[in-house]
Amino acid sequence: MDVEQIRDAYSSVAALYIELFGTRQQVHPDDLAFIGRHLSIRPGAVLDLGCGPGHLTDYLRSLGVDATGIDMVPEFVAHARAAHPHGRYRLGSMRSLDVEDRSIAGILAWFSLIHLPPRDLDEALAEFRRVTAPAGTLVVGFFDGDEVAAFDHKVATAYRWPVDELSARLTRAGFSEVERLHPPSDGTHRPYAAIAAVTDGR
Ligand SMILES: C[S@@+](CC[C@H](N)C(=O)[O-])C[C@H]1O[C@@H](n2cnc3c(N)ncnc32)[C@H](O)[C@@H]1O
Repeated sequence: MDVEQIRDAYSSVAALYIELFGTRQQVHPDDLAFIGRHLSIRPGAVLDLGCGPGHLTDYLRSLGVDATGIDMVPEFVAHARAAHPHGRYRLGSMRSLDVEDRSIAGILAWFSLIHLPPRDLDEALAEFRRVTAPAGTLVVGFFDGDEVAAFDHKVATAYRWPVDELSARLTRAGFSEVERLHPPSDGTHRPYAAIAAVTDGR
């Protein structure tokens, strides 16, 4: 699926997605804590890339973080603006950010890299690295598995990644892992993980 097909797929189910996943109460407290503690460490702008309904951008802002949500789906951006009128949301692509080099203190990519074909991941991470300041933080949430493999996600084809392999890709892009969250699979949700990683001092 190309990026337009993924955008259209999300557009067509945006209302349902918002109902099922669109509030911070629908996010596991451990996930919220992981996101919060890694992205509220240092002052500066944080981007929530592929913010969907905007609830995690709003969560970060509730912690005093200068967070902006960016998504390619107009329905999500419209909802986020209406639901969180004091927030900052804009339509855009995380693959090509309208942002100065090294100007961002942190990036959240919470299940938003999952639809990228594996061959495109390095390029997307290079764009994240371009905009991230020295000692900046990236938090990535994703589905994990024993090998890189496509699966039928309900909205659009998605890819699962072994945690070590995604971590190695992050390292290659200039982000060194500092912590991972890897909840045991309890049969109620797809296995998933999150990695927090920082750029070096340059
Ligand atoms: C599984 S949803 C996750 C949404 C949100 N982060 C959450 O946790 O609910 C994936 C999101 O990534 C967005 N997305 C995927 N590719 C994108 C791109 N290239 N640029 C901007 N947004 C993108 C989709 O529109 C969708 O909102």
